[in-house]
Amino acid sequence: MDLRLFCVLFICISYVSSSKLHYDARVMVNKEGITRFSFENNNINLVKLVRTSGNNIIWVGGPKILYSISPTQASKPHQVNVPLCQDESKDSDKSQHCSHRISVLREGVDGNLLFICRSYDGNTVCCNLNSSYSLDNCFTSDNYVLYINEPSLLVGNMLYFTKPDEGLFRINNNKHDNIWSQPSQAEQTYLKLIAGKGQHKDKVYSFFAEKHKSKDDESERWIPRVSQSCTNDRGGSKSLLQSSWTSVIYTRLFCGRGNEFTQMIDVATLDTDGDTKIYALFRNYWNMSAVCVYNMTEISRIFTSSEFNSDKVPANHRPGTCVEDSTRLSSEVLGFMKERPEMKDWVMPENGPLLFRHRHYTHIQVDRVQDHTVLLLSLESGGVHKVLEEPVFVIAEYLPFPRGTHITSMLLDASERRLYVSSSNEVVQIDLQRCHVYGDECIGCILSRDPYCGWDRLHCTSRAKNPVQDIRNCEPEAALSKTGISDKPPVDHISPSSKHFLLCPVTSRHATYHWYHGKTREECVHSDQGCLYLIDSMNETHEGEYICVSSEEGFQRTVTQYKLSMSRSDALRLTPALLLLLTALLLTF
Ligand SMILES: *[C@@H]1O[C@H](CO)[C@@H](O)[C@H](O)[C@H]1NC(C)=O
Ligand SMILES: *[C@@H]1O[C@H](CO)[C@@H](O)[C@H](O)[C@H]1NC(C)=O
Ligand SMILES: *[C@@H]1O[C@H](CO)[C@@H](O)[C@H](O)[C@H]1NC(C)=O
Ligand SMILES: *[C@@H]1O[C@H](CO)[C@@H](O)[C@H](O)[C@H]1NC(C)=O
Repeated sequence: MDLRLFCVLFICISYVSSSKLHYDARVMVNKEGITRFSFENNNINLVKLVRTSGNNIIWVGGPKILYSISPTQASKPHQVNVPLCQDESKDSDKSQHCSHRISVLREGVDGNLLFICRSYDGNTVCCNLNSSYSLDNCFTSDNYVLYINEPSLLVGNMLYFTKPDEGLFRINNNKHDNIWSQPSQAEQTYLKLIAGKGQHKDKVYSFFAEKHKSKDDESERWIPRVSQSCTNDRGGSKSLLQSSWTSVIYTRLFCGRGNEFTQMIDVATLDTDGDTKIYALFRNYWNMSAVCVYNMTEISRIFTSSEFNSDKVPANHRPGTCVEDSTRLSSEVLGFMKERPEMKDWVMPENGPLLFRHRHYTHIQVDRVQDHTVLLLSLESGGVHKVLEEPVFVIAEYLPFPRGTHITSMLLDASERRLYVSSSNEVVQIDLQRCHVYGDECIGCILSRDPYCGWDRLHCTSRAKNPVQDIRNCEPEAALSKTGISDKPPVDHISPSSKHFLLCPVTSRHATYHWYHGKTREECVHSDQGCLYLIDSMNETHEGEYICVSSEEGFQRTVTQYKLSMSRSDALRLTPALLLLLTALLLTF
C-alpha cells in the first residue's frame, strides 16, 4: 500500500474508548443520499422551508428572498420573483432599496402554490401565489407586523400568527375579524399552531415556551404551555376585551421523570388513527434533551373537563367554551378571561420522556414507518440524528454540513421519505431510504433497526416485500459469498522491514472490532477510515492470515480477511537503478 496514505492514516489515529458508544449514532453518513442545493448568493439568510404537496415543489425563503426547488429534476434552485416592492417603486427615494420583507410563507390551500405575506413599515399584504405564479386574492392589514420565523396557520380564510411575547393574532380581509392578544407579563416563544379536528375543529391550539425571570437572583424559570382558542371568537364587548380573545384558556405540559424538563425547544405533530400526537422537544438546565409525546384527545379533555386554577370561575358559562357571539358574553366572563385562566390539571405525556444525554437538539420532525416512529433531530453541531422512538436507538447521524453549522429549518417530505435541512445559505436533501449505508449483508441490515430498510435476501433495501425479521434467519452462506470472504484470500507480498497496514472498514459504531492473526487477538487501532492493523517492520512473524471480526449484540461476523507473505528474493525485483542498468546494457548491445 501507498506509503503516503500510511503516514496520513498514522496521524489521524485515535483510540476510542468503548464505554460511551451507545449514546452515539450507530452509523455515520456524510455523503450517501445527501444532495446539496447551492445558491449563487451566499449571504441570503434562508430560514424557512415549505412544501407544496400537489406538485412536490420545495420552497426556500428568507426575509428578502424566495427560491423554489424541484427535487425530482435535480436542477438548481430557481429564484422566484415575488413582486415585493411594487408599491414602493413609485417612491423614487426607495426604489433602489426594497424594504419589504417576506413575513409569512406557508403552503397554499385550494390549489394555490403558496400563501405569502410581505410587511413594510407596520403594514402587511397577504396573497395567494397561484399556479400561474401570480399573486392573487390579496388583502392588506394595517398595523400588523409579522415575522417569517413565527408559527402561522390558515383556517378557512383566516390567518393565525404569533408574535414573540405578545401572543396569538388572527387577521383576514375583513378588519372586523381581526383579533389580538392581551399582552403577557412573561417572555413567550411560540413554537407551533395547530387546528383542532373532529368535534374540536372550531378550535386552534398554540404551543409555546414561557420564560419567567426571577428578580432576586437572575435565574430563569421555563414553563411549557398549550392554549386553546375558538375560531369563531369575535372579541369582547365595547368596554372589555374588544377585538381581543375571549376564549383563550391555558394549561401546562409536563415532561419528566425525576428531574422535570421545562424548556420546550420545538414541536412536531404526527397524525395517527384518529388522533394527533404532539412530539415536544425539551432541554434542561444540564443540557440534556428529552422528547415527550402528548395527544390532542388528552389536551382537549383537559380543556373541557379540568377545573380552573381559580376560585372565581363564572357560574353560568364554562370559560373557553365556543359561543355564537362572544361580544355578548357577560362582563363577569370577560373579566375572568382577561386574567388568562389556567387549568388545574397539567397535560401528562403518554410515555416517560425519551432521554438523550449530552445532546443539544434544536429541531424535531417525526415520521411513521412500518409501525415504527422515527424522530429526526437536528444537532447544534450541524448534524441530524435519525432515532427510533421505542426503545430509543440512534440509527444514524447524517452530516450534511461542516461541523458547527447552524441549522435554521427542517422539513420532512413524508411521502417521498426525504428530509430537507437548511443552513442560512444552503439546503440539503437527505434520502432517508439509503439502505446500503448499513452494508450489503443481512446481519448488518437487521442490526441497523432502520424501519425504512429491510433485507430482501439479496440486498438491504427500502423495497423489501417480506424482509427478514430475525437475524437467526439470515442465510450464512449467502452473507459470506457476498462480502467476498473465501477460504483463500489473495496473498499480499510485502518486502522485508517495510511498513504495512491492514484496513477493516467500520460501519457500526456500536460494534467492537478485533483482528485475529493465528491465535492472537489484537485490538484495533482506530482511524477515520476504520479499524487498522499496523505493521512497523515486516518480518516472518507477520506472515499468514488476518481476519477482522466485528461483534455487536452477541453477533459476530468476519468483516474482512487478508493473507500476508514476505517477499524473499529482493534480487530479482526491478528497482529503478536496475532498470537503468538493463536499459544501458541493451543500448550498448
Ligand atoms: C392567477 O392570478 C392572476 C392574477 O389575479 C389571474 O389573472 C390568473 O388567472 C390566476 N391564475 C389561475 C390559474 O388561477
Ligand atoms: C449548556 O450549554 C450551553 C451552550 O452550549 C453552555 O453555555 C452551558 O454552560 C451549558 N450548561 C451546562 C450546565 O453544562
Ligand atoms: C393520550 O394521552 C393520555 C395521557 O398521557 C393517555 O392516558 C392516553 O392513553 C393517550 N391516548 C392514546 C390514544 O394513546
Ligand atoms: C518481528 O517483528 C516483531 C515486532 O513487530 C518482533 O517482536 C519480532 O521479534 C520480529 N521477529 C524477527 C524474527 O525478527
